Amino acid sequence: MTMDVRVFGSSLSLAEEAALLLGETLSGPGNHNLGLAGGSTPMPTYVRLAELNLNWPAIDLWLGDERWVDRESPECNAGMCWDYLASRTAAPFHEVPLADHEQPMEAAHAYESVLKDDILSKTDGRADVVLLGLGDDGHTASLFPDTEGLAETEHLYTATHVPKVDMWRLTATIPLLSQADHLFFLVSGATKAEAVRWLVNPLEGDPQIPARYVADAAENVTVLLDKSAASLISSPTTS
Ligand code: 6PG
Repeated sequence: MTMDVRVFGSSLSLAEEAALLLGETLSGPGNHNLGLAGGSTPMPTYVRLAELNLNWPAIDLWLGDERWVDRESPECNAGMCWDYLASRTAAPFHEVPLADHEQPMEAAHAYESVLKDDILSKTDGRADVVLLGLGDDGHTASLFPDTEGLAETEHLYTATHVPKVDMWRLTATIPLLSQADHLFFLVSGATKAEAVRWLVNPLEGDPQIPARYVADAAENVTVLLDKSAASLISSPTTS
């Protein structure tokens, strides 16, 4: 695994540079796919990314994770990703079929079929570019510490109950994330600084966090930070 760490002076420059880097990675010929992070950090990056002149009809957008909520809920990642990115482009946007299923695991496995048949089939069966966030406990996507999703070694997508947020979550698994061609972590703010150190410079005795498991299993990892999030790591490549 190669990990490239880049630090930007502010959350604004982080959002701008992250969008340009993602755009560059999605600009090659042929089909691409982009796995989207939920939460709030990516919002300004998505707005800027949507402004780039990319071949959007050839870039399939999919969700790195989703919450088991109503589609209209403000907590629904599909709603945020639609508002801030997908609705502003001509990209095919693949939502998790929440309303079609009674059980979260059924919806997760239905989405796995969508991934395999309609998205990854266009890119040699591999995830192309995946954008991930980082929680202050070191979770990424909806792979939280001490949850079953981390242990999934077969399915590309699974459902897992997360006691910390008292919610069922549907998430890409390590088998899916680890074979991505380009994995980007996008992290902003001082509250994430310790989790960033656990991800980038883990020391003896640090928690073994899900984000590090994902990074260790991947090939190309780029960690994009603002100065606040990078405040506890040493000698990153500052841009
Ligand atoms: C989600 C995410 C999750 C998120 C982190 C950071 O569904 O919440 O995908 O992994 O990226 O929790 O969230 P913030 O960007 O809101 O801090």
